[in-house]
Amino acid sequence: MKIKCGIDIIEIDRIKKSIESLGDAFLLKVFTQNEIDYCEKKAKNKFEHYAARFCAKEAVFKALSEEVDNKYSISWKDIETTNDKNGRPQVKINFLENDNIENIDVSLSHCKNYAVANVTVLYK
Ligand SMILES: CC(C)(COP(=O)(O)OP(=O)(O)OC[C@H]1O[C@@H](n2cnc3c(N)ncnc32)[C@H](O)[C@@H]1OP(=O)(O)O)[C@@H](O)C(=O)NCCC(=O)NCCS
Repeated sequence: MKIKCGIDIIEIDRIKKSIESLGDAFLLKVFTQNEIDYCEKKAKNKFEHYAARFCAKEAVFKALSEEVDNKYSISWKDIETTNDKNGRPQVKINFLENDNIENIDVSLSHCKNYAVANVTVLYK
């Protein structure tokens, strides 16, 4: 059994600036429609939620980088964070088909200036 983890942190202002300057071109390139719908519901706090999802994508990439190097080419939208009815985040990866990943878990946190994501991957 192998476990791999990945972590990422970002200044929320960086994401805010990208969204404000590039608008939909940035949003639609990086985030899935489910992610956009979730963040847009957060109104003025939306940048924190976008930033956390951005971190989740980077953290998944880090946790899976050996796999990605060897087998896959991935894009931002191949990694999607959704939330269950209690708000708990879960991450879905669209580029691994029948593979050796048993489970993948994500945890997010964000405050005024920073967002962070931690991802753990359990291999079969
Ligand atoms: C859910 C909770 C942990 C979020 O913590 P927070 O400091 O308010 O906010 P953070 O920025 O650190 O985290 C927000 C993220 O937590 C995640 N989250 C929300 N509910 C969650 C849950 N039930 N389980 C795990 N993660 C959760 C989400 O990913 C959320 O970000 P998102 O909306 O962008 O997806 C907090 O509101 C809470 O309910 N705490 C209860 C603490 C408690 O009962 N303590 C006493 C015993 S330890």
